[in-house]
Amino acid sequence: MDNMNPKSIIVIFGATGDLAKRKLFPSLYRLYEKGHLNEQFAVVGVARRPLSADEFRNYVRDSVETAFHQKLADGRFTSHFYYHPFDVTEAESYQRLKSLLEQLDGTYKTEGNRIFYLAMAPEFFGTVTSRLQSEGLTETHGFKRLVIEKPFGHDLASAEKLNDEIRRVFSEREIYRIDHYLGKEMVQNIEVIRFSNAIFEPLWNNRFIANIQITSSETLGVEDRGRYYDHSGALRDMVQNHMLQMVALLAMEPPIKLTTDDIRHEKVKVLRALRPIAHDEVDRYFVRGQYGRGVIHGKNVPAYREEPNVDPDSNTETFVAGKLLIDNFRWAGVPFYIRTGKRMAEKSTKIVVQFKDVPMNLYYRTNETIAPNLLVIHIQPDEGITLHLNGKKTGESTTITAPFQLDYCNNCIDGINTPEAYEKLLYDCMRGDATNFTHWDEVAASWQFVDPISEVWANTKASDFPNYAAGSMGPAAADELLKKDGFHWWPIEHPRS
Ligand code: BG6
Repeated sequence: MDNMNPKSIIVIFGATGDLAKRKLFPSLYRLYEKGHLNEQFAVVGVARRPLSADEFRNYVRDSVETAFHQKLADGRFTSHFYYHPFDVTEAESYQRLKSLLEQLDGTYKTEGNRIFYLAMAPEFFGTVTSRLQSEGLTETHGFKRLVIEKPFGHDLASAEKLNDEIRRVFSEREIYRIDHYLGKEMVQNIEVIRFSNAIFEPLWNNRFIANIQITSSETLGVEDRGRYYDHSGALRDMVQNHMLQMVALLAMEPPIKLTTDDIRHEKVKVLRALRPIAHDEVDRYFVRGQYGRGVIHGKNVPAYREEPNVDPDSNTETFVAGKLLIDNFRWAGVPFYIRTGKRMAEKSTKIVVQFKDVPMNLYYRTNETIAPNLLVIHIQPDEGITLHLNGKKTGESTTITAPFQLDYCNNCIDGINTPEAYEKLLYDCMRGDATNFTHWDEVAASWQFVDPISEVWANTKASDFPNYAAGSMGPAAADELLKKDGFHWWPIEHPRS
């Protein structure tokens, strides 16, 4: 794991797909540029389309040049890329891939290390892994690792089935389940802010915290992913993974050590402590929404039901808000509110920790309302933290207060160097550090929590869909959810603009 210059062959299944093009090739390039990949690596692109090695290298070069708006000076980086046209079900395809890997292992001295990255439709995950084994590609004297993209199943039962299939071939330690939120700089910063500051951890519990709010809003619609998304919806697409991972990091106990197992162990405990939501309670704790037509950045955009490959009568949610309770000693009674959706007013992910009010005896005479202290963790696009405090209003008596903010901006300081989530995750995987990947126990506990909600939603038609306009912050019911508890969503602000 301390190996800073890992040697490996990376086989990318789905190499002509969107993820490889937009994220994986540019991330590999950044690692190469930074010297994190020495010359002992090769990438084999695998996909259905017939391409020559040169065509593939041009494709990779294009993707890097598009991502960074600059021309590659030479072919050094792309010379590490090879292509293998492939049919997932055909034994012969695997045999030829095997010979290619053996040959590249000799050329690049990669010591038999193999990473199999499945950036393809999940229905093939099982077939590919079992073929990798039956055709002997996983028999190697180096390490073998499997990187697997979401969705990891559709519900607990399908996730278990998928897990059983891949576990026949790869051990849990060899499986790297991607949740790209765990590669984000400020998501990784949550545990550091919490555990390296004496001023937060003593207050981080139900005595001092009133509620925690996590919002991840997007302005994009479903783009060209209607076919996938209409069978998924925001609950499976964002809540089961990214949102619950952020909840776990915010709520976990300090791990004994910062090791993969210790951290994951604490996260799993949080997910297991989530109060289960019974079918007849879903409406009380969760709100679903679907966007109608509206205006985003001054442009009219269509309703979800008008998007390509979406059922014109679709019952799929593009927005979710929920109230989660964590039944343990630290968090009993503190609501965690989450909200996420497509076609909302703004692209932003942030966490607001609202502290409890101070006693008002000093201020009640002047009818002052004192704003609560807030710790805001800006995940994206701003990266930083803001602490909302109160002070004396200048020139007034001490009974008149005014709010002020302490602001730390991470990407103002080293923004251009903030690595892409995928860059960090790929590097972690090559070095064998699985901390920022999801363990099976986390996946299972998350599905267990989410399943009753999706069952109810699948079985009851939302009569009010579409119930929020594109460009808004979601349906009114999402505001009601907090209002019932005497809270409100803290508005999205731009602290630094
Ligand atoms: C993905 C979802 O996991 O996360 C997408 O499938 C969503 O629907 C994306 O757009 C959001 O990621 P980010 O990094 O842009 O917040």
